[in-house]
Amino acid sequence: MLKNKLAPSILNADFSCLRDVLFLLEQCQVDLIHLDVMDGMFVPNITFGPKIVASIRKNTHLPLSVHLMIEKPERFIKEFSSVLEDKDCLIIHAEASLHLDRTLQMIIDTGLKVGIALNPSTPLEMIKFVLEKLNLILIMTVNPGFGGQQFIPAMLPKIIYAKEMASNSKNDIEIQVDGGVNMENILQINKAGANILVVGSEIFGADNPAEMIKSIQKKLQISEKTQ
Ligand code: DX5
Ligand code: ZN
Repeated sequence: MLKNKLAPSILNADFSCLRDVLFLLEQCQVDLIHLDVMDGMFVPNITFGPKIVASIRKNTHLPLSVHLMIEKPERFIKEFSSVLEDKDCLIIHAEASLHLDRTLQMIIDTGLKVGIALNPSTPLEMIKFVLEKLNLILIMTVNPGFGGQQFIPAMLPKIIYAKEMASNSKNDIEIQVDGGVNMENILQINKAGANILVVGSEIFGADNPAEMIKSIQKKLQISEKTQ
């Protein structure tokens, strides 16, 4: 069984004190950090690029899960890989790259872990023939672009189906879920088959983010023991 992991998304954190945010996440011993790179084309929002990712990489030991919400990600694989380490995962969107098989191979060749993300309306069939190239499937449970949106309930059966696909694959594939994950729905999402839970505003919108992280970690640990 794959380990349950908490991946805080720093999208809604205070960027004026990023080092403190990273320190807090290290102190809380989260499993990885989820970084949302947006280009204003693939999604209607702009965040940050390789330079900020490089600074984050230099200031934490935690593995990074870099979620590229950018058009034609193949243009930037080299640049991102040059600032990342082998323990990190580069995630591209299936909808954003025309020659997906080739782009995934480009990531494999860098030595990074390979992830593919699917928008809510994108069928899982789209990745059926590239499964062997993947370490991770990211199921978007909101339309990407912003933190603080509502989880789309119709995504639960999609998570179950993704887990089934992953289990039938020769390689170990983790299922990451991103968007609207909170204290109320996290167990249901985990039980549906997601072992990596991205949580943004539930943590950084809380009065005490560290306490919130601890509560989530406890839930995930108990859930792991009872599975
Ligand atoms: C949305 C991003 C998410 C987002 C999650 O486009 O990909 O990672 O930050 O934030 P919450 O948990 O607030 O939905
Ligand atoms: Zn994300």
